[in-house]
Amino acid sequence: MRKLCATGLVLMLVTAAVFAGGQQDAGGLPSIGVAIYKFDDTFMSYTRNAIEANAQGKAAVTTVDSQNAQPTQNDQVDQFISKKVKSIAINPVDRTAAGAIIDKAKAGKVPVVFFNREPFAEDMAKWDQVYYVGAKAEESGTMQGEILAEYWKANPAADKNGDGIIQYIMLKGEPGHQDAELRTEFSVKAITAAGIKVELLAEDTAMWDRPRAVEKMDAFYARFGDKIEAVLCNNDDMALGVVESLRNAGFFTGGKYLPVVGVDATAPALQALSEGTLLGTVLNDAQNQGKATFDIAYALATGANVSAAGWTLTAGKYVWVPYQKVTRDNYKSFQ
Ligand code: GAL
Ligand code: CA
Repeated sequence: MRKLCATGLVLMLVTAAVFAGGQQDAGGLPSIGVAIYKFDDTFMSYTRNAIEANAQGKAAVTTVDSQNAQPTQNDQVDQFISKKVKSIAINPVDRTAAGAIIDKAKAGKVPVVFFNREPFAEDMAKWDQVYYVGAKAEESGTMQGEILAEYWKANPAADKNGDGIIQYIMLKGEPGHQDAELRTEFSVKAITAAGIKVELLAEDTAMWDRPRAVEKMDAFYARFGDKIEAVLCNNDDMALGVVESLRNAGFFTGGKYLPVVGVDATAPALQALSEGTLLGTVLNDAQNQGKATFDIAYALATGANVSAAGWTLTAGKYVWVPYQKVTRDNYKSFQ
């Protein structure tokens, strides 16, 4: 009788767990929740595709669009936790909200991997089941600066007013995003470290967005005209917006040129390199960032050892995927 009861209890618990909602999908795969700050972002769509491709046959991944609203993402995280997913991968809308997400995840005992938008160190320290996959923003800024410095040294005519100083425009991504702040800072540092003086004509944000960058560049060109000698952009979508604006102003034909540098190495940016408009970009490696994010989330979901997931962990919880310079010399190997 006692044995029967015990068996019955176990059965009930198992049934309850299954109905509590998909710890495992019908095929027995562990379920993982993924939230992306917004689907309508070129680079994030590459990362999302990489996560989903790596999950094939291994995990039941549910990916949600946080639509650039942190309250929406918070609700999505609550739902993942109440559905008892085995782990969550989060690309925060607002990286300062990571602390609150970690508190919820810890209370619900669901491990978390953040990616692309780095939580503050004090938030990362809140729980040992929290990881981060990203790339060193400083590195991408430095590479952008080096690309421009190299071009400047090889092309004396780039100094249009001959004063030995690069008069430049800076187009930033979302303020507060580590990639926006550090690319802005380190690109310029690399130029001055190469012994070149710089003069900032104007800096503004175009929020990673191409149409906004077209508008901003139209206005900058109207204001500064040929005083502008270079444009640094925190990502390729904005750099392509700048190229578009300049093209409309008569550049890139008949020898009229202005160096524009981006980051990400998106397909349209590689196309622009092949056409000789964009001067350079930096590979933001969505394939490996997506793979690392999935591999860590999967290890967490299956209770495996995260340090054996195939990625070097820095300080026990960070995976850093390297950037690479991309110019006309090597863009073909990234297409
Ligand atoms: C950056 C990337 C941008 C944008 C941003 C979103 O790493 O360079 O293009 O996707 O992430 O957080
Ligand atoms: Ca100059």
